[in-house]
Amino acid sequence: MASLPYIVGNWKMNGTRAMLPEARAIDRAAARFPKVQVAVAPPATLIYRTREAAELIGVGGQDCHTQESGAYTGDISAVMLKDAGADFTIVGHSERRAMHGETDGVVQAKAQAALAAGLAVIVCVGETEAERDAGQAVAVVSGQIEGSLPRGDGVVEKVSVAYEPVWAIGTGRVPSIEDVAAMHAAIREQLIAIYGADGAGVRILYGGSVKAENAAELLAVANVGGALVGGASLTAESFLAIVGAA
Ligand code: G3P
Repeated sequence: MASLPYIVGNWKMNGTRAMLPEARAIDRAAARFPKVQVAVAPPATLIYRTREAAELIGVGGQDCHTQESGAYTGDISAVMLKDAGADFTIVGHSERRAMHGETDGVVQAKAQAALAAGLAVIVCVGETEAERDAGQAVAVVSGQIEGSLPRGDGVVEKVSVAYEPVWAIGTGRVPSIEDVAAMHAAIREQLIAIYGADGAGVRILYGGSVKAENAAELLAVANVGGALVGGASLTAESFLAIVGAA
């Protein structure tokens, strides 16, 4: 089943109010690309203002807590993201997994919390370089998918997966087209095993050093339904070049 390519900018811990014109420019330009679904995930402090500044694009969080509220100093719940105007949230980014010790179980609980709050969710997976060198890439990602994806009635329509090889994030390196195709095919097979026939419609984004120069080739690979973009999403110019390539 055909769905629009989904191009999502993950601003990570970048951006103050000075970035809002970039969000506005992305939003205005999105009207020129009706066949692409465009979204940005700014830092939590900018979600409300980005939502106010933008009409067409999706706005999302980069993480959420497993709980709705409580004594969790410094954390932000999915309910709060929704209240601030988010449509979706990323969960399980490798930076969260590595720097905050998030296990598959935690990521899955965050995904369930996001869905319960009415958000769509992008669940990130990806192997390290050592795991790829050891021939374990598909097995590692398969374990992450099994342990991190949310389950339950009606969730499948609100879930996307982002395959982001850790060694490709922010490095300028990308896997070969064959490796991207093989991994996305393996993920597709597993999504169908988990969700049944509906798993065929789940978008699988590729992330890791996506730039205007490689976007068209990556997005043309079978089972690549979009891109999760870090560094190149920080200016409207570089991000829109990727949107244009989709
Ligand atoms: O979530 C997107 C990200 O991890 C990829 O970052 O800078 O390699 O595009 P980058």
